[in-house]
Amino acid sequence: MDHHNPYLTETPPAEPRATKSLVTHELPPLPYARDALEPHISARTLDHHHGKHHAKYVQTLNELIQGSNLSKMPLEGIIRATARKKAKAKIFNNAAQVWNHTFLWHSMKPHGGGRPSGAIAERIDEDFGSFEKFAEEFKNAATTQFGSGWAWLVIADGKLAVTSTSNADMPLVHGHKPLITLDVWEHAYYLDYQHERPKYVQVFLDHLVNWDFANANLV
Ligand SMILES: [Fe+2]
Repeated sequence: MDHHNPYLTETPPAEPRATKSLVTHELPPLPYARDALEPHISARTLDHHHGKHHAKYVQTLNELIQGSNLSKMPLEGIIRATARKKAKAKIFNNAAQVWNHTFLWHSMKPHGGGRPSGAIAERIDEDFGSFEKFAEEFKNAATTQFGSGWAWLVIADGKLAVTSTSNADMPLVHGHKPLITLDVWEHAYYLDYQHERPKYVQVFLDHLVNWDFANANLV
């Protein structure tokens, strides 16, 4: 994926900071206050999800790549270099989870949700037939993904499509361009919705999804 998207400014510096231990990756700040998504996603959830889970993926990634050639690569380079390599699965999982979570924070915004406008609205009508059909497909993908994973709106073979991935798996390694994601790991919704994933998915579509981000990703 290219880096024209102004939302994704956390790209690691080309020249890693030279210290005794080469720490290349940092936890990007949330693009809004921790309580900004309330009442739909609580500050407590974001404290854990961003402050603990996302932070831990960053920390583990840095530990795993320390001293190796991967420590000189940008995050997407690490993801591509380790994808589908059994011996590198731990590095892939942590690198992809760092990337996926940063993408997730931008996929939501306060007072988001509802019908899109702009180019993404036209593309959804063209490729799904209607917004309702897209929403149905997205809800289905997000609620039927068994266990931990992600639901995505992507561009695949030039058309919009809904996909889901397991655990840390993500669209870049399938040749898809991600536009929006939703985390369906239990840690994303359990404090606010317990086991009721369908409720959380509906709230994401109604109140949180950041269509500006999708439009920016379309460019
Ligand atoms: Fe997560």
